[in-house]
Amino acid sequence: MSDTRKAYRASLLHSLGDPAELGEHASYEYIADGLLVVEGGKILAMGPASALLPDLAPGVPVRHFEDTLITPGFIDTHIHYPQTGMIGAYGEQLLDWLNTYTFPCERQFQDATHAEDVAGRFLAELLRNGTTTALVFGSVHPESVDALFEAALRLNLRLIAGKVMMDRNAPDYLTDTAQSGYAQSKALIERWHGRGRLHYAVTPRFAPTSTPEQLASAGRLLREHDGLYLHTHLSENREEIQWVKQLFPEREGYLDVYDHHGLVGPRSVFAHGVHLCEDECARLGQAGAAVAFCPTSNLFLGSGLFNLPMAERHKVKVGLGTDVGAGTSFSILQTLNEAYKVMQLQGARLNPFKSLYLATLGGARALDLADRIGSLQPGHEADFVVLDLKATPLLEYRLSQSRSIAETLFVLMTLGDDRVVAHTFAMGQEVHQRDAVASAAELARD
Ligand code: GUN
Ligand code: ZN
Repeated sequence: MSDTRKAYRASLLHSLGDPAELGEHASYEYIADGLLVVEGGKILAMGPASALLPDLAPGVPVRHFEDTLITPGFIDTHIHYPQTGMIGAYGEQLLDWLNTYTFPCERQFQDATHAEDVAGRFLAELLRNGTTTALVFGSVHPESVDALFEAALRLNLRLIAGKVMMDRNAPDYLTDTAQSGYAQSKALIERWHGRGRLHYAVTPRFAPTSTPEQLASAGRLLREHDGLYLHTHLSENREEIQWVKQLFPEREGYLDVYDHHGLVGPRSVFAHGVHLCEDECARLGQAGAAVAFCPTSNLFLGSGLFNLPMAERHKVKVGLGTDVGAGTSFSILQTLNEAYKVMQLQGARLNPFKSLYLATLGGARALDLADRIGSLQPGHEADFVVLDLKATPLLEYRLSQSRSIAETLFVLMTLGDDRVVAHTFAMGQEVHQRDAVASAAELARD
């Protein structure tokens, strides 16, 4: 027996597949009194405590978390770390919001000390909210990505990030060129991609802020290196879409701008896709590309309502994005709360097991990482959260009336936020403990 072996006793819940494909009941596994055995950062076994405890060697420590639910760590498929300090910026829709608030805020990341400070706060916030993997926009400054990856490496997180490429239609202080954007991205790829659990995403901000030359250079980076991601925005706002039509009249539509440059593939993640047409959805599905559904952002900026059923029809991979700072919460639970309402406004439902799927395994599939994260299956990386079912008086009272795991899950997603995340584990290490004086993430910042 290895002395690194540890066991956690709690209710266990994870997703086995998309309820849209498997049906609700076959899509999850719930063990009311379960045991999760972890060794060397990986899940070694999971199952009923009654079955696993008798075989557990006597020296293996068992932590018993009463009145809790363990799920896989949450996965945020679209977020901007430089926008941590500007959540809740008043009054504008996308394009004015970018010019008025976002660009001046991102300017500060030319200062590496500022970037290091915000990177630490940002990762601590992810972990406080139970998010163990995220696909993250940096700023245009390569130093911003160095700061984030350095902090993520210290915490041994599975994290994907990239430097923004932006060579037009933005202030001079925030633009690169097709050549410098390519060279800086390449240097970051060589420095970080594949180190620890880190991956690099080629990150053109969105079609309006890149010349065709820059988009072509993004395609070249993807062709020149294995396993990179492509991360950008797509069809978020009606004015934005009109602007793309004016800037790229020779292309068939917004998605085609990216497609033309070889940017649409199985590791491409497009944030929003609120106003996609059927043909674009079909193309995303055929390419194996993913959309990050960002409900708090789409409501906050008045962008529109994402059509999840259309994405499902075309088998488009979908994950959830908080899209902070246009999004209004780091919490994937709160993101699900708003996702439910976005579906309600379209006369549709988001059942709690679909929500669980989007927050975990669906997010992992969107990021092409489902063989490593997103589930509690043995062999997967031990990224998991312990959710406190008595975190607030209201939650405790409401859940005392619950008659099923479906109801408990739905209420958690409606009332829950960072307060319910009692512990967060990444690669088997506790990286957040709600009730501790200082979290591991805070310590990693110092
Ligand atoms: N489109 C281009 N840049 C951004 C951004 O920073 N946030 C959002 N929500 N959309 C964008
Ligand atoms: Zn965004």
